[in-house]
Amino acid sequence: MEKTFAIIKPDAVKSKSAGKIIDRIENENFDIVAIKKIHLTKDQAEAFYAVHKGKPFLGELVDFMISGPCVVMVLEKENAIQAWRDLMGPTDPEKATDPNCLRKLYGTNIGFNATHGSDAPETAETEIKFFFPELLG
Ligand code: RTP
Ligand code: MG
Repeated sequence: MEKTFAIIKPDAVKSKSAGKIIDRIENENFDIVAIKKIHLTKDQAEAFYAVHKGKPFLGELVDFMISGPCVVMVLEKENAIQAWRDLMGPTDPEKATDPNCLRKLYGTNIGFNATHGSDAPETAETEIKFFFPELLG
């Protein structure tokens, strides 16, 4: 079993899509290990996206991520990291080939793309620790 870290971003929370996204997560047999609704501070968003420091889209991304509450989760399943990224679809919803992937259904464009998922075991661990320090030793 593998754990990954997921966010339902502010656009999807605002459009009341969180429940539909959680329904998909459960239908795909992920176990929701932990879940909470939080409104990120600017400091938190900048720290979480520190890996994108220097990228032209970082300011826009941070502003978006603090524009409203989001739902943060730890998901567990076999190959959870890849399975969650498959369920989300590509970063840019317009590039999605699966019309039922979450970013196609609930995202608008590459900047406002409804969900986040860890991209590797190391980032999953760091991201889980960032939001749910009580879960990891
Ligand atoms: P995420 O981290 O949110 O799961 O998305 P990802 O791995 O698919 O994409 P990543 O390259 O890590 O980018 C993080 C987030 O930055 C925003 N972004 N905007 N305007 C742009 O060109 C651009 N590129 C990336 C997206 O919100 C993306 O999810
Ligand atoms: Mg990423």
